[in-house]
Amino acid sequence: MIGKLADFFRRAEPAFLDARPGDAAALAALHRISFRHGWSESEFERLLADRAAIAHVARANGGRGAVVGFVLSHRVENEAEIFLVALAPGERGHGTATKLLSKHLSRLAAAGVSRVFLEVDEGNAQARKLYARAGFSQVGRRAGYYRNPEGNAAALVLGRDLAG
Ligand SMILES: CC(C)(COP(=O)(O)OP(=O)(O)OC[C@H]1O[C@@H](n2cnc3c(N)ncnc32)[C@H](O)[C@@H]1OP(=O)(O)O)[C@@H](O)C(=O)NCCC(=O)NCCS
Repeated sequence: MIGKLADFFRRAEPAFLDARPGDAAALAALHRISFRHGWSESEFERLLADRAAIAHVARANGGRGAVVGFVLSHRVENEAEIFLVALAPGERGHGTATKLLSKHLSRLAAAGVSRVFLEVDEGNAQARKLYARAGFSQVGRRAGYYRNPEGNAAALVLGRDLAG
């Protein structure tokens, strides 16, 4: 009984894995529910096939379940830009994105990346908290960068160094 209970909790923890080409449909589905302008499966296929792309997924049930989150970066020499981070709505608020981003940053560092940038909507409080927790700080601000239905919003440019 105790063994079964322990198995249940082990299964509940997502695993953080390299994204595979076959994950494109799951990434498109997560993107569609997380952002106003959803990208298609073929756009994700193209992004994942790019040699400069580095992407990780959070897979439920210790890696045996569905993709519940992803992070996608584009790397050029020793710099990388994080394009997207998204979690399934039911997975938010439990630290999964923090763990996924931490794994992603470790892999970027291991691949020789020493500086990481990203842009975030100034009004996206959850994303800003995530990046602050991960050690990012503001290096710039682009006024009116995002055209949202409720008005234009600034993009904050965040950056952090990675230990070599
Ligand atoms: C941005 C996004 C990925 C952040 O997800 P999140 O669930 O807030 O982030 P985490 O998984 O790290 O969870 C953090 C929350 O879990 C809590 N938490 C619980 N256990 C935790 C743990 N072990 N470690 C860290 N946080 C933990 C934190 O206190 C925090 O709660 P708070 O929001 O009340 O401060 C998510 O909101 C999302 O997918 N949004 C839509 C897409 C988007 O806007 N992406 C960013 C722009 S590209």
